[in-house]
Amino acid sequence: MKKDFISIADLSREEIFDIFALTRELKEKTRKGEWHPLLKGYTLAMIFAKPSARTRISFETGMFQLGGHALYLSPQDIGLGQREAVKDIARVISRYNDMIMARLFDHADMEELARYAGVPVINGLTDYNHPCQIMADAFTILEHRGTLDGLKIVYIGDGNNVAHSWINFAYRVPIHLVICTPRAYQPDAATLNRAREAGCSTIQLISDPVEAVKNADVVYTDVWASMGKENEAELRRQVFKPYQVNAELLTHAKDDVLVMHCLPAHRGEEITDDVLDGPHSIVFDEAENRLHVQKAIMVKLAGKA
Ligand code: CP
Ligand code: NVA
Repeated sequence: MKKDFISIADLSREEIFDIFALTRELKEKTRKGEWHPLLKGYTLAMIFAKPSARTRISFETGMFQLGGHALYLSPQDIGLGQREAVKDIARVISRYNDMIMARLFDHADMEELARYAGVPVINGLTDYNHPCQIMADAFTILEHRGTLDGLKIVYIGDGNNVAHSWINFAYRVPIHLVICTPRAYQPDAATLNRAREAGCSTIQLISDPVEAVKNADVVYTDVWASMGKENEAELRRQVFKPYQVNAELLTHAKDDVLVMHCLPAHRGEEITDDVLDGPHSIVFDEAENRLHVQKAIMVKLAGKA
């Protein structure tokens, strides 16, 4: 049966660490300039209903480095669910291409795409989650710390798609996850309850940022108004002000705290310039690892490793 990558919750812990092992291998080969055409002749259709820099560039580059080809399909090209039904596009693309990566608004559309596609579908972000991002993030922490065990990872900001993927990661891999949001912007309760009931990780919801980051190993943030929420940006700037990741807040974390952000950042809003550009920041390692981890995901879904 074909496999998709729609949510980290769909993977077992073993599958997650298998992807990390392959990521390490592919990253080394890429760094050494070794040709690794594991997906020679493969084509990837990339459907974008929202803008992107990292996701588009890393998938397109990754597919090329694996010996395949990726097609960029902009919101104007496909009009998923508007110009054409999701299930029709799923079936048509499956006749041309070996794999689909999509960035969509509604998570239900992603699930429908996967249900009707005859080829693997990779979720490149929905309003609900962003699994490729958090796989790259966790891999980056592993590179810097050697382990995830016992680390306190604090996500601070909006209870959005990135927060949900962190919770889904904690559902499968033991970590100490703190989600710190204003009360009205907490993450999805069902996602949180499932992860808590699984008992794999310690997951706390804390609304006070200073309390949340106490002894943190990792402080992670994201934009306050995600794509599609731009009309709420002004209101959110007021509500989220106390949640800014700045030098003062970091004095409450561990001395060697790692600072992360999925990017793009709104500098001066959720994170200050000095922190983003400072010695604790690993945001560009994180961005680079999107490439390596997604290559591993594509190779695994193609059954080539
Ligand atoms: N982090 C991330 O997914 O970046 P883009 O929106 O630029 O793809
Ligand atoms: N939460 C952000 C992530 C961007 C990569 C958004 O959805 O816009």
